[in-house]
Amino acid sequence: MARVFITGSSDGLGRMAAQLLVEQGHGVVLHARDAQRAQEAMAAVPGAETVVIGDLSSIAQTRTVADQVNRLGSFDAVIHNAGVGYREPKRIATEDGLPQLFAVNTLAPYILTALIQKPKRLVYLSSGLHRSGDASLKDLAWENREWQGQPAYSDTKLHDALLAFAVARLWPRVLSNALEPGWVATKMGGPGAPDDLDAAHRTQVWLAASDDPAAKVTGEYFYHMQLRAPSPAARSFELQERLLEECKRFTGVELPLS
Ligand SMILES: NC(=O)c1ccc[n+]([C@@H]2O[C@H](COP(=O)([O-])OP(=O)(O)OC[C@H]3O[C@@H](n4cnc5c(N)ncnc54)[C@H](OP(=O)(O)O)[C@@H]3O)[C@@H](O)[C@H]2O)c1
Repeated sequence: MARVFITGSSDGLGRMAAQLLVEQGHGVVLHARDAQRAQEAMAAVPGAETVVIGDLSSIAQTRTVADQVNRLGSFDAVIHNAGVGYREPKRIATEDGLPQLFAVNTLAPYILTALIQKPKRLVYLSSGLHRSGDASLKDLAWENREWQGQPAYSDTKLHDALLAFAVARLWPRVLSNALEPGWVATKMGGPGAPDDLDAAHRTQVWLAASDDPAAKVTGEYFYHMQLRAPSPAARSFELQERLLEECKRFTGVELPLS
């Protein structure tokens, strides 16, 4: 049985994935932004081992999440699931002066990947919208452009795929994959979302814990437990390296190169 840490497991697909992993007999550590949400997360996933707390929009708090996880020992898998959606009407600045969307969706998975003791498997939640992400990687902090929520979200989901594939290349002993869950009716997806909610959380669970040889691959992109072609930009070594450089510059955290 696997031991899995899931970010953003107080709601939506993270919580559903946690519930399914517990049902399958795996060990699960939850994550929530604050003590209130942590209590709610534990109530919703009663079989979970524990919950770690930290607001992923803050670089300092994200570092403490990594510390809390490392104090709990080693994990078989980490699922980078937490995310902010595409409806932010303006550039919401974090305590670090960065757009919240970029901090939570791009920098937090980078920091946690770099600082959590390496698991056997890493899973990154991207989105079909990553295909319209800006592959120039210019102005990542939205200082010189007028804010647009959906493009800003799409950019971060391209970053998540770039990060997954960079890690797959740099850390050959770790299985690192990305996926799109489909547009589904969570808090983020909204009530009218058309895809199958019951299928949406299964791919992350399968990639994290299944013994199916099809799930034990690395550097791949999935939709509903099937391989799907990501944007060619996500495969660019040069873009992957540039994203890692930018993440290091914004956070002061270095990704171990092996
Ligand atoms: N739903 C879709 O249609 C869809 C489509 C493509 C990709 N995705 C991706 O799937 C992942 C999960 O999305 P979802 O639909 O399950 O979204 P959701 O229902 O809105 O849940 C997001 C989770 O992330 C947590 N979170 C957000 N900001 C946080 C912060 N600053 N600090 C700590 N935790 C934070 C939320 O905590 P709170 O509950 O406290 O807010 C919640 O647990 C995301 O990465 C998303 O981009 C979703």
